[in-house]
Amino acid sequence: MNKQRNITLALALSLTAVTTLAAPVKENTSPIPASEYEARIQQAMADPKTHAAGKRAAFLCVYCHGEDGSSVQENIPNLAGQNPVYLLTQIQKFGDGRRKDEFMSGLIKALSNEDRVNMAVYFASMRPNTPGSKDAGLIERGRKRFQTTCIGCHGPKAAGNKAVARLAGQRVSYLTLALNNYRDARSPRTDPVMTLVARKLDAADIPAVTAYLSTLR
Ligand code: HEC
Ligand code: HEC
Repeated sequence: MNKQRNITLALALSLTAVTTLAAPVKENTSPIPASEYEARIQQAMADPKTHAAGKRAAFLCVYCHGEDGSSVQENIPNLAGQNPVYLLTQIQKFGDGRRKDEFMSGLIKALSNEDRVNMAVYFASMRPNTPGSKDAGLIERGRKRFQTTCIGCHGPKAAGNKAVARLAGQRVSYLTLALNNYRDARSPRTDPVMTLVARKLDAADIPAVTAYLSTLR
């Protein structure tokens, strides 16, 4: 276990305790049904108070995911620029155990439905700013691989959509980790389609495609 993350965890948990004590009763009684994610997000996007509320709730997340949703640590994803419905879906998965992270799952469970929606809208409105790869040869190889294998689902600019992750501007280390997890199907996060895709990539494809994706904006 990594020491820095342990310190983070202690900090994050104490912050959770403070907000839980200070906050009035949470509305988190029953989870939002998946069929309502999009409507809830649209409603929140139309409300001018959402951005500030999302930013306030996101203070628990910024140590790992960055002030503006661009992570400053390896293996931790940028949230900036993801589709808000995709973000809400993933937040719900951490909340109910379909995805697990030893540091994050507990934090997410303590959040109200409203906080979850507001944070998804807030992070989606940011632009990722992680520096991309500078290896021209690798990037070109990755561009070709992306165009033959990934573009159909992730889109021409890898911007994703409500069901498919944005990959553009994501950290190389996180993309690599996610692809390895899908391929090995050992992580709690599974997706049958991405497992098939990842198993078709050879060892040289992963560094190439992740380098290319890190350069997209
Ligand atoms: C201690 C560090 C840490 C904190 C604090 C943290 N996260 Fe995370 N988060 C991670 C890691 C690591 C992953 C990747 C886990 C994996 O590989 O499945 C992740 C993944 C995610 C994802 C999935 C992104 C994707 O591309 O699929 C979302 C959404 C997310 N976090 C939201 C949040 C929110 C909202 C908060 C604040 C309530 C938060 N996180 C706090 C470390 C953290
Ligand atoms: C048939 C559709 C499809 C194709 C083709 C596809 N993907 Fe995906 N990808 C998805 C879906 C859907 C998800 C979200 C799955 C989930 O929720 O875990 C995803 C998720 C991912 C993630 C996780 C991102 C994150 O933020 O956690 C990575 C990395 C990824 N894809 C890379 C690729 C690469 C690289 C290729 C091409 C080699 C590719 N995908 C091709 C559908 C596809």
